[in-house]
Amino acid sequence: MSHRLLVFYGSYRSDRMGIRLADYLVRELAARGDDVELIDAKAVGLPMLDRMYKEYPKGEAPAALEDLAQKIRDADGFVFVTGEYNWSVQPGLKNLTDHFLEEWFWRPAAIASYSAGRFSGVRSATAWHGILSEMGMVVISSTLGVGPISQTLDETGAPIGEGGKALARAFPRFADDLGWWVEAAKAQRAKRAPPY
Ligand SMILES: Cc1cc2nc3c(=O)[nH]c(=O)nc-3n(C[C@H](O)[C@H](O)[C@H](O)COP(=O)(O)O)c2cc1C
Repeated sequence: MSHRLLVFYGSYRSDRMGIRLADYLVRELAARGDDVELIDAKAVGLPMLDRMYKEYPKGEAPAALEDLAQKIRDADGFVFVTGEYNWSVQPGLKNLTDHFLEEWFWRPAAIASYSAGRFSGVRSATAWHGILSEMGMVVISSTLGVGPISQTLDETGAPIGEGGKALARAFPRFADDLGWWVEAAKAQRAKRAPPY
């Protein structure tokens, strides 16, 4: 069964590297039969948070916000590609996610972190775990950690070298875990409407 998945990525840097991991994940998840879309915060281009989506009168939110709210509501699950700036999250992705709250509820989320070095952005993954939980998602326990990203994925997001092999070995379990929770949440939402 095909699921609707959104892959979020949020670096605004001109020379950004994490797009390689985002591209890899979109491609590999789609290859498993899911309907996958990349949500690139830089391309969406939301301003620094002023009003959350829900704070606009119905029908008056800016088009980019309205469009993204609908995509989030329609999704069955989420993947967050998280880079690490000074041991924490990237502001572009955090700014995008903060525009929404209820739109995120009752779906699973997975975290794939990366960095320039061997620690693979694990501190950003840890920070995101709490953030996504607070926003009403069920964070799956499987994670992917990619580092050094330049030695793991090439410019097209294709795995290279030993790091690439390790990523390709780890990916199926990550995707299986997400897929199982996506199905479970979908079945439960169909059986009983979320309590709030
Ligand atoms: C402002 C800034 C802070 C960074 N802090 C960390 C850090 O705390 N830990 C780490 O492993 N890498 C850190 N890095 C290196 C990033 O892992 C690397 O630049 C990575 O490619 C950033 O993601 P991006 O290219 O998608 O923007 C930092 C990079 C920047 C630009």
